[in-house]
Amino acid sequence: MNDVNTPPATPADVLGFDPFDPEFLRDPYVRYREMSEHGPLFRTRAGLLIATTHELCTVLLRDPRFGRGSGPMRATGEPAQSFLWMDPPDHTRLRGLVSRAFTPRMLERLRPRIEAITTDLVSSLPKEADLVSGLAYPLPVMVISEMLGVPPEDHLRFRGWSESLARGLDPILTDDLAAESGRAAQEFRDYFRELIAIRRERPGDDLLSALTQVSELTEGELLATCVLLLVAGHETTVNLIANGVLNLTRHGLLKHAAEHPKQVVEEVLRYDPPVQLTARQALQDMELGGVPVPAGTRVMALIGAANRDPAVFSDPDRFDVTRDPGRHLAFGLGIHFCLGATLARMEGEIALSALATAAPDLDLAEPEPPYKGNLVLRGLARLHVRLRR
Ligand code: HEM
Repeated sequence: MNDVNTPPATPADVLGFDPFDPEFLRDPYVRYREMSEHGPLFRTRAGLLIATTHELCTVLLRDPRFGRGSGPMRATGEPAQSFLWMDPPDHTRLRGLVSRAFTPRMLERLRPRIEAITTDLVSSLPKEADLVSGLAYPLPVMVISEMLGVPPEDHLRFRGWSESLARGLDPILTDDLAAESGRAAQEFRDYFRELIAIRRERPGDDLLSALTQVSELTEGELLATCVLLLVAGHETTVNLIANGVLNLTRHGLLKHAAEHPKQVVEEVLRYDPPVQLTARQALQDMELGGVPVPAGTRVMALIGAANRDPAVFSDPDRFDVTRDPGRHLAFGLGIHFCLGATLARMEGEIALSALATAAPDLDLAEPEPPYKGNLVLRGLARLHVRLRR
């Protein structure tokens, strides 16, 4: 029971930073650096361990003695969890079944479609535009919805669901947010249950139809997979594109994206990663960075800090689109390495190069655009720009 004289722990006590503080959101990397100055494993006032170096984050993500364990501290009321939250052997089985349908051939076939959607969106942008709602958000939404075979008239219904579900990714949730995330998950599952029934009867040329043909997947597993793909496909790439435009514009480098989209996307992923952190649990008594970590201890891998580790990246706080950002951890590592990394890169490259080509002199209409304030995902609420084309 709580002592009435003890003030409740603040987010900063628990996490070492306040994810809702506008100053932190503007540049979280300053705080991450301070945390890393205490050593590679930061212990917050509430006792949470946070790995701040590339080396320790790599161990956390790669060493099978760390896993999901009992999963995230959340209560979304999902009857089945997606494989993102599972350990082997369940993770291995489910990821294998899904990646069978998520083939490179399917992705390559998508390229012309992604280009066409991007061209439409970019040419529809007004002279003064919000690039989040006008490009960064609708592009990945349309792509993942089309991949899953969701009819175009339903795409917009997904926005609210997906925003609430994305908050369900955060490891620490208030009761209200957890309830909202649970409600969204329920409505979303009801919707997909119907669509799955239709696709079982009349399979189309889409990922959902392909998944319904994988007989080893139970309906619960299939639904959880759809939620995962939808959230991952909605809420991450939007931030790659918007964080990309913001950083490129601030550094006067947008034009570079037209000629070197691959390099640019990798540096954006390193410098300002859409997924800032993830967590693991020690599955047995261990030691990490010289610190004893008893079985069941949760440890956070601070990807945003690992990507600025001076031991791996020279002059890490410099946004340098000519560097080789090879070993960044933006897509994680090990068995949970992002299944959508190729798709996300393709979308990011196409969007940034199309924008740089159409509006190379674009500038920010709001120099300090506001952030959404999620814990795991780092993304802008809006990005007002003047296109000057
Ligand atoms: C820039 C965009 C993206 C970023 C930065 C990103 C990042 C990540 C990260 C860091 C993980 C690992 C999480 C962990 O280890 O705890 C992950 C997993 C995953 N991502 Fe992505 N992602 C992106 C886009 C996408 C897209 C577009 C899709 C699919 C449409 C996708 C599907 C997945 C799936 C299915 C997993 C779970 C893999 C597993 O548990 O085995 N992601 N992503």
